[in-house]
Amino acid sequence: MKVIIINGSPRRKGITAAILHEIERGLSVKGIEVMFYDLDAIKMAHCLGCCSCFQSGHCCIKDDAEKLSEQIAEADGVILGSPTYASNVSGLMKDFIDRGHFVIEQLLHGKYCITVSTGENYGNRDTSKVLGRLVVYSGGCICDSIVVKAPFETATLKDPQKRNGSDKEERKSICSKAAEKMIREMKQRKKHPLQNLQHFIVLNIGIKPFVKKKGIAYQGVVEKWRKMGI
Ligand SMILES: Cc1cc2nc3c(=O)[nH]c(=O)nc-3n(C[C@H](O)[C@H](O)[C@H](O)COP(=O)(O)O)c2cc1C
Repeated sequence: MKVIIINGSPRRKGITAAILHEIERGLSVKGIEVMFYDLDAIKMAHCLGCCSCFQSGHCCIKDDAEKLSEQIAEADGVILGSPTYASNVSGLMKDFIDRGHFVIEQLLHGKYCITVSTGENYGNRDTSKVLGRLVVYSGGCICDSIVVKAPFETATLKDPQKRNGSDKEERKSICSKAAEKMIREMKQRKKHPLQNLQHFIVLNIGIKPFVKKKGIAYQGVVEKWRKMGI
């Protein structure tokens, strides 16, 4: 089984990364193949809004964002982490959401996901909702949502492992439980009836009629759905 972890914070040693690496450890010790990506480290242009991907099935910009979407398409699990910026995901994460073929192309179809949002003060639950909606609308299901409130300064320490004791222990336990839950659910192919219902409504009432109306302009999308059995 393969899991892709995406860190949407520009701070590679920040709190979001620390939490994601903790989950990575929990998965790796159980033999799961994990690939960790800092969005800050990849080559990723903004979406141009040309919509050519809907027709061709591929983005016209050939950079790392496109390769990362291909990796996600082949994974069993995906973990999305973002700091809260103005009560929303970071700009980096938003760029990847725009480039990543998520909702219309159902990139997360059948995948098990964890969302991680961090914030200092207020709004990290909004960030969690944005990521959660993205997962469900894209056909995935959420095994766990981790929401962490942490002071900005503590996250600037060079070694994120050196942060204060009790918080660190608590976070470790949350992360290892989330990793275990994800592994269990991936193995059992656990169903999430409420999330599945929400997805069914969004796909069949919102997305499918819209795509059908677009005809040839969205033939790349329909072809991808056909391959996925949607
Ligand atoms: C541009 C910017 C905007 C932010 N906006 C919020 C916010 O609206 N609410 C909040 O709680 N924290 C906000 N923060 C603080 C970060 O979300 C928080 O410190 C986060 O945990 C940092 O994660 P990182 O260490 O992984 O980068 C903001 C930080 C920055 C740099």
